[in-house]
Parts: sequence; C-alpha cells; structure tokens
Amino acid sequence: MQFSGLFVLVAVALVPSVLAQNFGASCNNIHLTGTGPSVSVQATCFLPNGTTKSSTLGLSSCLTNSGGSLRCARGGNAMQSCSGCTLSGTSLRCNCGDGKGGNPSTTIDLNQCIANNNGNLGC
Ligand SMILES: *[C@@H]1O[C@H](CO)[C@@H](O)[C@H](O)[C@H]1NC(C)=O
Repeated sequence: MQFSGLFVLVAVALVPSVLAQNFGASCNNIHLTGTGPSVSVQATCFLPNGTTKSSTLGLSSCLTNSGGSLRCARGGNAMQSCSGCTLSGTSLRCNCGDGKGGNPSTTIDLNQCIANNNGNLGC
C-alpha cells in the first residue's frame, strides 16, 4: 500500500517533464514559414485572457542536429545542417546530415520543444 502510493506520487511528479512544452494544446494554424536556415514555425496561439495572436519562432533557436537526429536544444542551430523540413500537426520531419556523408530523415514532436508563453512561441 505504502509502496504503490509512493509510485503514484513519483509518476505524477514526472509527467510535467515528459509533456514539457506542449504548444499544440493552445495554438492553431500551426505551419512552417521561411526557408533555409531561417525556416520557422508559425502559429496562432491563445493568451490567458482568451484572445489570440500570431507568433513565429525559428526552428534553429529550439532544435539541434545530433548526428542526424533532431533534439530539443535552445540555440541549437539545427537548420545549419538540416533541410527539406515538413510539418504534420506538431510532428516535424527533416533530413539532417549525420556527419558521415548521410542525410537521414528524422522526426521530432515539436510539443517536446516549444511552448506557448502568453501567446508567444518559445523554447
Ligand atoms: C489580452 O492580453 C493581452 C496581453 O496582455 C493584451 O494586449 C490584450 O489587450 C488583452 N485583451 C483583452 C481583450 O483583454
């Protein structure tokens, strides 16, 4: 009984770090804009008072290319070595150089990296 109670506490405590940023829950019209190193995600996001505003965030400012895989990282500069990005919902797919001559396709859920901070996209 005590053990299972502790387990529930630990599980609940871990949830926020797993769901992290989750901008998709409070933003609409999520799409990519811009090209090359300045490719960005643009969305219409709710503010706490119920109004909405459009916001744009460069993917390079929130993502890095780790050996051909996209990872969340502030100031990660991913778009220096990734290209051909497409967005489906909040799932971003790009081709990223693996440093060994390959350019594999890699996918990341931007909900892991991007937040809606009072109507402004951030990471
Ligand atoms: C909602 O909040 C934003 C940011 O604080 C403010 O600029 C805007 O005027 C507010 N709108 C209303 C209807 O309260």
